[in-house]
Amino acid sequence: MQRTLVLLKPDCLERRLVGTVLARLERKGFQIVAMKLLQVTEELASRHYAEHLEKPFYPQLLAYITSDPVLAMVLEGREVIATVRKLVGATNGILAEPGTIRGDFSTSGQRNLVHASDSAASAEREIGIFFRPEEILTWKTDDSSLYLAEHEK
Ligand code: CMP
Repeated sequence: MQRTLVLLKPDCLERRLVGTVLARLERKGFQIVAMKLLQVTEELASRHYAEHLEKPFYPQLLAYITSDPVLAMVLEGREVIATVRKLVGATNGILAEPGTIRGDFSTSGQRNLVHASDSAASAEREIGIFFRPEEILTWKTDDSSLYLAEHEK
């Protein structure tokens, strides 16, 4: 089973869309194995968004991601990394397909509600930035047959 890091970003909390967004991820069949509400510091932002540090939009991105709390979580499930990216949609809410989270709730290229890891390497790196190993819980419900065929478990 894969794991991915998802951040519900400050605009998601400010707009009280946490329940709505979380429901979309949860009802797909993914399992929450870690979650915390936190205020992102400049240092944390620079580690998480290391690849964007030199981009012209980084100062605005930093101001945005540190402006209010984020809800960070680790989701676990079959092909969870690519599938959550599909559920979230393209970075810019204007370009994101209707039916995706950004496509339905955002018209912004920056205030796009959600961050989700884009690859297995990113997921491993980003999970390590936000969570200590002991904060990630291993638990299983016995309802996997509702979501997966035997050979997919
Ligand atoms: P995220 O998926 O968290 O990855 C990097 C973030 O930077 C992105 O979502 C947006 O919030 C922000 N971002 C990406 N491109 C731009 C841009 N051109 N201008 C402003 N913010 C951007």
